Amino acid sequence: MIPDSRTVLVTGGAGYIGAHAALALAERGYRPLVLDNLSKGHREPIERALGAPVIQADTRDRAALDAIFARERIDAVMHFAAFIEVGESVVDPLRFYENNVHGTVTLLQAMQAAGVSRFVFSSTCATYGVPEIVPIPEDHPQNPLNPYGRSKLVVEKILAECETAWGLRSVSFRYFNAAGAHPSGLLGEDHDPETHLIPLVLSAALGKRPSIRIFGEDYDTSDGTCIRDYIHVSDLADAHVLGLAYLLGGGASTAVNLGNGRGFSVKEVIAAATRVTGRPIAVEKAERRPGDSPVLVGSSARARKLLGWSPRYPDLETILAHAWAWHQRKA
Ligand SMILES: NC(=O)c1ccc[n+]([C@@H]2O[C@H](COP(=O)([O-])OP(=O)(O)OC[C@H]3O[C@@H](n4cnc5c(N)ncnc54)[C@H](O)[C@@H]3O)[C@@H](O)[C@H]2O)c1
Repeated sequence: MIPDSRTVLVTGGAGYIGAHAALALAERGYRPLVLDNLSKGHREPIERALGAPVIQADTRDRAALDAIFARERIDAVMHFAAFIEVGESVVDPLRFYENNVHGTVTLLQAMQAAGVSRFVFSSTCATYGVPEIVPIPEDHPQNPLNPYGRSKLVVEKILAECETAWGLRSVSFRYFNAAGAHPSGLLGEDHDPETHLIPLVLSAALGKRPSIRIFGEDYDTSDGTCIRDYIHVSDLADAHVLGLAYLLGGGASTAVNLGNGRGFSVKEVIAAATRVTGRPIAVEKAERRPGDSPVLVGSSARARKLLGWSPRYPDLETILAHAWAWHQRKA
């Protein structure tokens, strides 16, 4: 890829995936400007990795956004900033719509006013709901099961309307389960609350929690536990850089799944984590959780064909080894 020196505003860039994308942009010669309100993100790791300060601002603050767009020559926006926890979205849906939808609308208004029209958006496989076909293709019906997924689907629709109205061009990436950590050990996953399987399993291996709960062992899958598609966060970051280059090169708006194309069961993840860490991991049986699909695996054919993307770290043990190195360092 030819290095590109254009400036990219990375909202939510102090968070898990946004930080990896910001670093991947810098590594390709782009100038990432990290904007984060630090409600969930971490200033220090990304500032150290980039050697540049985080702009502490909120996507719902129009005046702050206008000042940034006036001050910097921004060529494109990557938008990661959002609330992400599905359970919280069910308890307090309005808080989610206020941040994930209103925050995005405010950002798009500032972009429109500043004449910035290239947008890479963090959407999710949660927009699909219960899969009718696996691996899930992008033209699969979108019927989200919770306010979090719906907040992302609403934004996808808004992006299409902005394209018609004022020429916005966007790539919506629908991620499956982001996992792993930067191979350098500089960045990793640090959510609070943590609800993702791999960090929970690794914190059990570190003795920070007594056991890991398996929600349902009676699904119609190979070993009875749910199957998910885990994608290395650095592979996600690479796809974002390719998606941006595609848009800057005149590519049409689209939605693109980002997954491994392979599924691993909860028990397979725990067994692999036991091998990688060399530590015993205690498990506890629990009831199925409402809304959990037995299998969620995405087709990554479009990402490969349209963007020339292929995952560098598709192997579960590599994903776990990188995450383990990060968790040990953080412990
Ligand atoms: N982690 C996953 O597996 C996964 C899967 C699918 C989609 N996504 C999407 O990817 C994006 C990033 O997820 P993540 O796992 O890195 O989450 P994260 O919580 O680590 O990062 C989100 C960041 O956005 C910031 N933020 C939130 N609201 C903001 C606002 N109004 N203004 C400025 N900053 C704000 C937070 O402080 C945080 O640093 C999210 O949009 C999420 O919905 C994540």
